[in-house]
Amino acid sequence: MFALLTILSTTLLSYALPSPTSCHPFRTIFTTSQSDSFIAISPRNSYNMAGDGLHLYLDNPGGDVTRKGGVNNKVADGATFNSTFTFLYGKVTFDLYAPIYAGVVTAAILIADQGDEIDIELLGSHPSHFQTNIFAPQPTDHGPLYGVFSSTDDLPSGDSGSGIQVMHSYSIDWNAERIIWSVDGKEIRTLRKDQTMDDSALHFPSHPVRIQLGIWDASNPAGTAEWAGGPIDWEQVPKRMEAVFKSVQMECP
Ligand SMILES: *[C@@H]1O[C@H](CO)[C@@H](O)[C@H](O)[C@H]1NC(C)=O
Repeated sequence: MFALLTILSTTLLSYALPSPTSCHPFRTIFTTSQSDSFIAISPRNSYNMAGDGLHLYLDNPGGDVTRKGGVNNKVADGATFNSTFTFLYGKVTFDLYAPIYAGVVTAAILIADQGDEIDIELLGSHPSHFQTNIFAPQPTDHGPLYGVFSSTDDLPSGDSGSGIQVMHSYSIDWNAERIIWSVDGKEIRTLRKDQTMDDSALHFPSHPVRIQLGIWDASNPAGTAEWAGGPIDWEQVPKRMEAVFKSVQMECP
């Protein structure tokens, strides 16, 4: 009896839940309610789901921030959301507005527990470009390959508002052979698996990932601040900066 119940509930469960790595199509348009597909992993006051999208905030860390030697002594905690599911291969499209203050980074990434990443990063200091990158750590690596597979490409032009970019649609289309990044439907960068060789190992992401949305303060350490055009000058920027995600869409292979 017990065994039968166990089998029954296991069967029911496997019907109710999609396999953890299966791609299921959806479109989340962030409105006033919490989305089923995403969960905040930062405090409630660090974001707001208003009618026009999910606002992710980066707030002044409070007190005096000392800016010295190319870094700030305090780093603000930005808002981060994870998808509630993982998947292996699929196409994700983010409609978002990024802030354009130096030292702030807006991230729309796919990230695995094993360290694989497929990234889109928008640097507030370079509002006319966007950066793409991948990580797939291998046992033979001597450390993270930060610059090896990164690329900086032009964004289509458009009028930006005060402190925030015009909205763009950014896509990551990932399968077992290649990744294609697009902006506003136009393919910008293709990276094939065979182009990810470094130190005689392939570095192509191949583990199930979560979607992660975030805004972060790149004001420390010095190398990160330099890359991001920071550190943030809190005397010049608003106390609260924001990135706005209007929607996230998933299409399956
Ligand atoms: C968010 O995603 C990251 C990367 O997969 C994971 O390490 C972390 O545990 C996740 N946090 C939550 C609360 O889901």
